[in-house]
Formats: sequence, structure tokens, C-alpha cells
Amino acid sequence: MTAGVSEIETQLVTDEFAEAVLNGLAQPRKSIPCRFLYDARGSELFEEITRLDEYYPTRTEIGLLKDHGAEVADRAGAGCAVVEFGSGSSRKTHILLEALTGASAYVPIDIDDAALTDAASRLRADFPRLDLHPVHADFSQDIRLPKEIEAAPKLGFFPGSTIGNFDLDDAVGFLSDAGDLLGPESDLLIGADLQKDRDILLPAYDDARGVTAEFTLNLLHRINRELDGNFDISRFAHKAIYNDDVGRIEIYIESLADQDVRVLGRMFHLKSGECIHVENSHKFTVPQFKALAQRAGWASEQVWIDDNDLFSMHYLTRS
Ligand code: AVJ
Repeated sequence: MTAGVSEIETQLVTDEFAEAVLNGLAQPRKSIPCRFLYDARGSELFEEITRLDEYYPTRTEIGLLKDHGAEVADRAGAGCAVVEFGSGSSRKTHILLEALTGASAYVPIDIDDAALTDAASRLRADFPRLDLHPVHADFSQDIRLPKEIEAAPKLGFFPGSTIGNFDLDDAVGFLSDAGDLLGPESDLLIGADLQKDRDILLPAYDDARGVTAEFTLNLLHRINRELDGNFDISRFAHKAIYNDDVGRIEIYIESLADQDVRVLGRMFHLKSGECIHVENSHKFTVPQFKALAQRAGWASEQVWIDDNDLFSMHYLTRS
């Protein structure tokens, strides 16, 4: 009997995960790419993070979308196709599409097939006249847009300051690839978290209820489950620091003891206090983000900021 498509996909994902973990734990500075935080449980915990009092980005960006949706619609014009990178639950998409009464199509791109199907069916009910073309793909890899939207002007949508996960050169690479994908007539609406006082930043990444800690440590549960690991989770801790020089939050899993761990039959040693890097979250000033966009061939035509200077939303056009 041959394996079903989803079985093959799961196999590929696991191999990629295995390679990343074995390779990342073998480095002198241990590190695992942040996309592996988002398995089903991880995505659920991230949703919970977005509702925390301390986590200001989601509600602030939703406020900006509500307050300025009409201006976005004016700029985007009629008949545009909205292409969202990493659509997830598409909560913000609803607000954007409500404002963009003239949108012709919506193309959510996401690696999580279940989230895509879910979001598509909810949007189908709320926006019956909108053409939906979900694309199941990793938005940081090579993607193709559906033929049906070829002729429409495109509005890319990349909310959440997910751009802040990339190192700066990779962010430029991503924005430049997004420009190539969307085409010469396209625009891009993108959220970028602002630089701010560490007293606001740190609690957003280390909340009182420990949801963020659970989100980070879920990676070890995932390794135990999928890669035959033997991490004792109680001997590790979530650690978030603000790196002032680079202007970013860095998230680590810290070993609380001298210990050995096993993953897929390979042993790794961790010293007490040694950290596994799992995520960066860059913060930007408005001029910094404009310069970054510029390097990737985009011009920031307009930027909206909330009254508390927490979060920015840029409307980019091809330069
Ligand atoms: C999904 C990358 C936008 O950086 O704020 C939140 C990820 N990690 N808390 C962020 C995250 C821990 C989040 N992004």
C-alpha cells in the first residue's frame, strides 16, 4: 500500500524538523529555528498569547486596522486581490476585508493546512462574493500565486510584526521576494512593532501567567514526541531578554542543570545556564523600517501609529 499525501507531507516535515534539531543542538551556540515552535499546540498557545494583557501587539494592530481601514481601502483601490503571508487564524483579515469592500479575491498562504481550511470556510460564509484561493505553503520559501488572480492588482498583507522574526538581511530578502511574487503594480500592508521601553517589552514576552513560557517549552515536548527525545521539561526554563544593541527580543530555552539529553539516539550535553536560542523579535523605529523596506524595493507611502506609540502599520508601494 502506498502512503497518503498527508502522510508523506508529515514525513517530510519531520525530517526537516529532525535535521534542524540535530544540527541546532550540535552547534557551540545551540539554536533551533523559530518556525518549529508553531505545531498545533504551539499555534494554540500563540493564539492565547495574543489575548494576554501584557501582549500589546495584536490588539494594538487590530485597533490600527479598524481606525485606518478606510484609508487603506482608498489606497488599494477597487478589484484588488489580497495576498496574506502566514494567514493563521485570519482574525485580522476579517477586519481588513470588511474595510476593503472592493476586494475581488483573497489568497491566504500558510503552512498549517488545518488553519487554512478553517479560515477559508469562515471567510466563505462572511464574504460570499470574494474569490478564495488558499495556498498551502511555507511563505518564506518559493511560492506561486494562483492563475486566477494574475490580472488583479495585488495588496500583500503581512501583519503581526512577523517580519521581526527574520534577521535584518533575511527580512530584506523576504520583502524583496514578496515584491517579485506580487508584481510591479502591487502594494504591501505590513505591521512592524516599534522600539520601546524594556518595561513594556519584557512582560510582553514573559507574562505573569506563564503562557509564553509554555509556548517556548512546548518545543521540547514536540522534540520528545516527534524525535524520540528525553528532555525533562522541569529542568529547563523560558528566558526572554532585550538585546539593546540590535533592538530585539531574544527568546531562549535555558538549561537549569548540567545534563545530557537524547534526540533520535544522539546525545547532547548542556551546561547549567546554557541556552538554546529559539526566537528573535526585532523592534523598529519608523526610519529604520522605512530604510529596510527601501533596500527591498519598497517605499513607505504612509505609516499609522497608535496613540501610545506601541505599533506601526506601513503602507508600502513599489519604488
Ligand atoms: C509571531 C513573531 C509576531 O515576535 O511577537 C510572541 C512571536 N513569541 N511571543 C512576536 C512571539 C513569543 C511573535 N510573532
